[in-house]
Amino acid sequence: MTRKEYKLVAIGGDGIGVEVVDACLEVLTTLADRDGSFTFGVTKFDWSTDRYKRTGAFMPADGADQLRAFDAILFGAVGAPDVPDHLTLWGLRLAICQPLDQYANVRPTRVLPGIQSPLRHVNGGEIDWVIVRENSEGEYAGQGGRSHPGLPLEVATDVSIFTRAGIERIMRFAFNLAQSRPRKLLTVVTKSNAQRHGMVLWDQIAAEVAREFPDVTWDKMLVDAMTVRMTMRPDSLDTIVATNLHADILSDLAAALSGSIGVAPTANLNPERDTPSMFEPIHGSAFDITGKGIANPVATFWTAAMMLDHLGERLAADRLMRAVEAVTANPDLHTPDLGGNATTRMVTNAVIEALRGRN
Ligand code: NAI
Ligand code: MG
Repeated sequence: MTRKEYKLVAIGGDGIGVEVVDACLEVLTTLADRDGSFTFGVTKFDWSTDRYKRTGAFMPADGADQLRAFDAILFGAVGAPDVPDHLTLWGLRLAICQPLDQYANVRPTRVLPGIQSPLRHVNGGEIDWVIVRENSEGEYAGQGGRSHPGLPLEVATDVSIFTRAGIERIMRFAFNLAQSRPRKLLTVVTKSNAQRHGMVLWDQIAAEVAREFPDVTWDKMLVDAMTVRMTMRPDSLDTIVATNLHADILSDLAAALSGSIGVAPTANLNPERDTPSMFEPIHGSAFDITGKGIANPVATFWTAAMMLDHLGERLAADRLMRAVEAVTANPDLHTPDLGGNATTRMVTNAVIEALRGRN
């Protein structure tokens, strides 16, 4: 039987991004060998802050177009202590997401076996959420500017952009996702009390799209009140949809409530599959632990499972998550972010062993 080959591009980026992506590629090779029906052809790109310092650009001018030739993108993180974060973010991560129109950012949250939530009333099952983040416009649309630089009347604006088309497509995606999950429950996060234009349109379109999904129960939460509900009544939530900025913040909270930012994955999807989607951990380049070999690779393994699912390899995705869960269940294999002493190498080896069926 000929094995199907997926063309995968790996962009480690900066800091621990490189470490966790390399660990993930080892795991994916093991998984593909174990499965036997598919394989990965991996191309690595060195797009990063190092490249920016050498050449003046994080990626080639036609970088986003180069990526179109691949089936999926595995991304680490971008960010360095000596380059402003708005340059790194816009120079690489957003420079990929936006032209490839990866408008649906999907962020599942669960407390994995063996991991303790910082919430004392949570034992595991109470947190099982998927946060859908609008990933193409809103507060991060890039509109705005600065005038009168350096003068007392200096002014800076960041204008949020909400389009009917942009809201409709993310709402439809979120309602579809909610419908596919057992509880068929969607919470629409908003701030339409204070922001009376864009957020009101957001609410209005949510109500319109909801009519297409009569079997989905949905409600609306103001973003500030949402932080309270996530903390105090986590089991009242299932699927959540929020704007670019709101979901950015809420998903870091979700990651913390599930035990660590080191286990939280995300997928930047182009649901229509016109372009490749990008899979990454939620965390950044973590320069405080770079080079120490203690980065938790679980978030990246989990996003690889999301990638396999997106590619249609559901069995392999389940197999990878079972291996990851068998490893997190053992506290001896917890990295320091989870309170343990394990290294990236130990966790990676243990997942590889679990995939080979030796434990
Ligand atoms: P960060 O996520 O890099 O680190 C926050 C804290 O969590 C640090 O104490 C770090 O050691 C810890 N941490 C993160 N991932 C971990 C892992 N896998 N294992 C163990 N511990 C982990 O966020 P921070 O410090 O705000 O940002 C650092 C840089 O990363 C900045 O330049 C920032 O702009 C960038 N960044 C990039 C992102 C991306 O590429 N998608 C996302 C978030 C931040
Ligand atoms: Mg963030």
